Amino acid sequence: MEHLRPEARRIAELPKVERLGHLATDRWIGYSRARDALQRMNMLLSTQAGRVRPQNLLIVGPSNNGKSTIAEKLQRQHPRRCSQERDRNIFPVLSIQMLPNATVPRFHAQLLDGLGAPVGHFQRGDTLSAITLNLMRACEVGLLVIDELHNLLCGSSSRQREILGLIRYLGNELRIPIVGIGTKDAWLALRLDDQLENRFQPFLLPRWANDAETGRLLASFETVIPLQECSGLGLPVLRKVIVERSEGLIGEMHELLLRATDHALTQGRERIEECDLMECSFQAPTYRRQMMDRELRS
Ligand SMILES: Nc1ncnc2c1ncn2[C@@H]1O[C@H](COP(=O)(O)OP(=O)(O)OP(=O)(O)O)[C@@H](O)[C@H]1O
Ligand SMILES: [Mg+2]
Repeated sequence: MEHLRPEARRIAELPKVERLGHLATDRWIGYSRARDALQRMNMLLSTQAGRVRPQNLLIVGPSNNGKSTIAEKLQRQHPRRCSQERDRNIFPVLSIQMLPNATVPRFHAQLLDGLGAPVGHFQRGDTLSAITLNLMRACEVGLLVIDELHNLLCGSSSRQREILGLIRYLGNELRIPIVGIGTKDAWLALRLDDQLENRFQPFLLPRWANDAETGRLLASFETVIPLQECSGLGLPVLRKVIVERSEGLIGEMHELLLRATDHALTQGRERIEECDLMECSFQAPTYRRQMMDRELRS
């Protein structure tokens, strides 16, 4: 079982249900694009805080392609810590999600909530804004992550402009970099505010292609799939099938490999073969969408 990480070797000895349970849990697999994104965010945190015009980053990619997982990894690298001498919590990184029904007061409330402040006590309007700003300063927020930024487009255009104005204001006042995360609509949303648009450097997380980089990702996945024999997931034959069936999305790859592992074990095998990838219970995203469309029409 030398193809497995040490902890996966132990799990590969367990009964099927437990093995699948382990495989189903989300774990971090480093790949070069994710490492680049983390490095860019860490660079912003260490070099842009305190600058008059901090640089921002916009991580853009299709849904289910690892964007939020990268943000969570950053959060784990810079966890909240308790400052004894200042008697408060310090938040090097504060992460929130843009709500589809976001308004300026709700956005403030989310920031306060993220800092662990009792939101309900505060009034609306200017007071809320001042309290939020003061608290973010007091908690030494060094970088703000806004996930699901594309949700901004759900609101009316005046609401969108208000919130973009607030994001710009926060960056200017606190002098901290901001990382936006979302699908390509996030970029469209930012374009409504010229000043904001040119402060965000886009960073793309495209779909995975049938290439060597994907081969390396699949080889890394294989080190945590608790099967006793090596399947060669990153080699051209299986790689091609995996990329096609998953439609190049990392979340779909994870799901496909989980189901293929289940299928292989049910067949009494300790490695994934092409038939497992083709015959397991996984349904490709396009197929699922078509099924739903058909259901809804009938
Ligand atoms: N670095 C990683 N290592 C291992 N698995 C990963 C990694 N990144 C993503 N995944 C898998 O892909 C799934 C989807 O990832 P994630 O939620 O980060 O996607 P997303 O791009 O934020 O999607 P959405 O736009 O729908 O929010 C995860 O639940 C996990 O199974
Ligand atoms: Mg996400």
